[in-house]
Amino acid sequence: MQLAGKHIVLGVTGSIAAYKAATLIRLLVKEGAEVRVLMTPLAKEFIAPLTMATLSGHPILVEFFTPENGEWNSHVKLGLWADLLLIAPATANTLAKMAHGVADNLLLTTYLSAKCPTMVAPAMDLDMYSHPATQQNLQTLRERGNTVLESPPGELASGLSGKGRMMEPEQIAARVAEQLAAKPTLQHLTVLITSGPTHEPIDPVRFIGNHSSGKMGSALAMELAMRGARVILITGPAATPPPQHPLIEVVHVSTAQQMHQQATARFGEAQVAIMAAAVADFTPEAPALHKMKRDGNQLSIKLKPTADIAAALGAQKRPNQLLVGFALETQNEEQNARLKLQRKNLDLIVLNSMNDRGAGFGHDTNKVSLIAKDGTKTDFELKPKADVARDIVTRIAQMLP
Ligand code: CTP
Repeated sequence: MQLAGKHIVLGVTGSIAAYKAATLIRLLVKEGAEVRVLMTPLAKEFIAPLTMATLSGHPILVEFFTPENGEWNSHVKLGLWADLLLIAPATANTLAKMAHGVADNLLLTTYLSAKCPTMVAPAMDLDMYSHPATQQNLQTLRERGNTVLESPPGELASGLSGKGRMMEPEQIAARVAEQLAAKPTLQHLTVLITSGPTHEPIDPVRFIGNHSSGKMGSALAMELAMRGARVILITGPAATPPPQHPLIEVVHVSTAQQMHQQATARFGEAQVAIMAAAVADFTPEAPALHKMKRDGNQLSIKLKPTADIAAALGAQKRPNQLLVGFALETQNEEQNARLKLQRKNLDLIVLNSMNDRGAGFGHDTNKVSLIAKDGTKTDFELKPKADVARDIVTRIAQMLP
């Protein structure tokens, strides 16, 4: 009974794969979940509401109110009740409406009101699936923290073969169980994250920067928000936009000095701070007021060191606060990381080596080791940054007082 006591709202949309939703309900109920089924009007044409109501043990919901007695079906209450909103099958139409905030049926208003994680299992023909509009909508949904459950290419109802097939109910049920597995909930926790690069002005049009994409900081912010934590994301000018989530407050800064100012000012609100930014270590001592002109001569720019934000927070840390840093090393990795942990008064350091292929700057994957201040070290495989974020947050959750 992996899902005992869990509340799942299952949204069913108008796809031929809707018949598989019946099996899905059975699997979820068998694992102990309480399932309420929301259907779009077209979904009723593909599978009988009576089947879904019988399997879930509750009347199905389609309209904003019940026409017979005028009873209001509150999407807000449903959204709050749910531990998970699962939309399977999800048509191209529903995915597009979700990505654009269209609210013309009960399933969509519930999605817009829900505070819980959302998973979608797309089901459509391969051309619709591969269309740039659908792919863009799926990307938008991913960036907002929704999980897209994709199945490998296979036989489609149209007789064609390719991508777009709904994931099998057994696999969906397994992913649901994984998602709802007893992760420690981080509600009531506030986490400050620094992320992305900083830009240090040379003159009004030029700066010293670095290749940090901000992806690791964004993945951490999203993982924390999905577990219920409030996040203050202080980000430099990263190439990828910061994640959008009601629990994530984004604070935009440009220079190391601005990041230092914001981080030290806001640290008091947080129980945990994660220093994922690639902060410039040096900044031009006296940025030129006007664009510097080419005059044929060599140019030297005098740089002064920036403040070490992690070390500043390490110095102001209260005993009940946790401070997590990153170390990107190219030689004597472990030894240098352990020294950094001590020097900056960190509780945990995430070591990523530049020597690992696919890890670090700009990549969607990362390979890290976590070293805690008690000396313990855990090595992880190369994995997507979202999964690395999950590992880091799980470790932090274990260390919370
Ligand atoms: N860091 C910071 N402020 C700085 C420099 C670094 O907060 N001015 C943080 C980073 O966000 C990271 C950790 O300190 O969490 C280590 O960053 P890193 O660049 O590896 O360390 P440095 O202290 O800059 O040491 P070095 O570059 O000499 O290895």
